[in-house]
Amino acid sequence: MTTIFITSSGTDIGKTYVSALLIRQLRARGLPVRAIKPIVSGLDEATFAASDPAALLAALGEPVEFENAEDLSRWRFTAALSPDMAAAREGTEIDFTELVNHCKARISLHDPLLIEGVGGLMVPLDATHTVLDWMSELNGPDFAPLLVVGSYLGTISHTLTTLDVMQKNDLAPRAIIVSESLASPVPLAETVDTIARFAHDTRVIALPRNGTPDLAALI
Ligand SMILES: Nc1ncnc2c1ncn2[C@@H]1O[C@H](COP(=O)(O)OP(=O)(O)OP(=O)(O)O)[C@@H](O)[C@H]1O
Ligand SMILES: [Mg+2]
Repeated sequence: MTTIFITSSGTDIGKTYVSALLIRQLRARGLPVRAIKPIVSGLDEATFAASDPAALLAALGEPVEFENAEDLSRWRFTAALSPDMAAAREGTEIDFTELVNHCKARISLHDPLLIEGVGGLMVPLDATHTVLDWMSELNGPDFAPLLVVGSYLGTISHTLTTLDVMQKNDLAPRAIIVSESLASPVPLAETVDTIARFAHDTRVIALPRNGTPDLAALI
């Protein structure tokens, strides 16, 4: 039961772009992929078409309708804040055990299952847990983390810091995908080469703007 977990060094980097691309590629290979983005903040019916659940539904070939986001994104918040803060604005909090059980139940039902994380690796989900804790709870032999990073100036330190934390927590990514940032003064290829030099055995893949590298081969 392969679980692909898409995480990142930060928010707005390219997790959803990569998730949608990978979903389409797996479907093109005839694989019955299911995807969830259990926690989404900044979700509003008026702007639903531009949301992460909408992008994932479209990639899955399912109707892009607000109601269909309910199962795909069990925890939905209006405020575009970190999950703990967005939940607090609505007088609630994410039950971490329930989140883990929710994912495990879907892992047992779908092969492969793609999970898009939220924000960056160390974003808080509640008062005491981060995305890293969430990934650690789901980790196992068929758990395949993918690390999506940007190509902006400063990404190398953010990327290597995230990679180091993942490796030290037994969550070595199957690949680092460098999604080309808008208006970066640094050429994508040079950033990829530099990250690869320091990432040693970890595969590093360049994803140009609107690019379609073969990600399905990683699974
Ligand atoms: N390689 C790329 N080519 C074209 N557009 C991209 C690429 N990477 C990211 N984008 C665009 O940049 C924006 C931010 O990317 P995306 O939504 O995938 O980030 P994210 O990491 O999922 O953010 P969040 O933390 O909010 O979930 C989106 O409009 C997305 O389509
Ligand atoms: Mg996203």
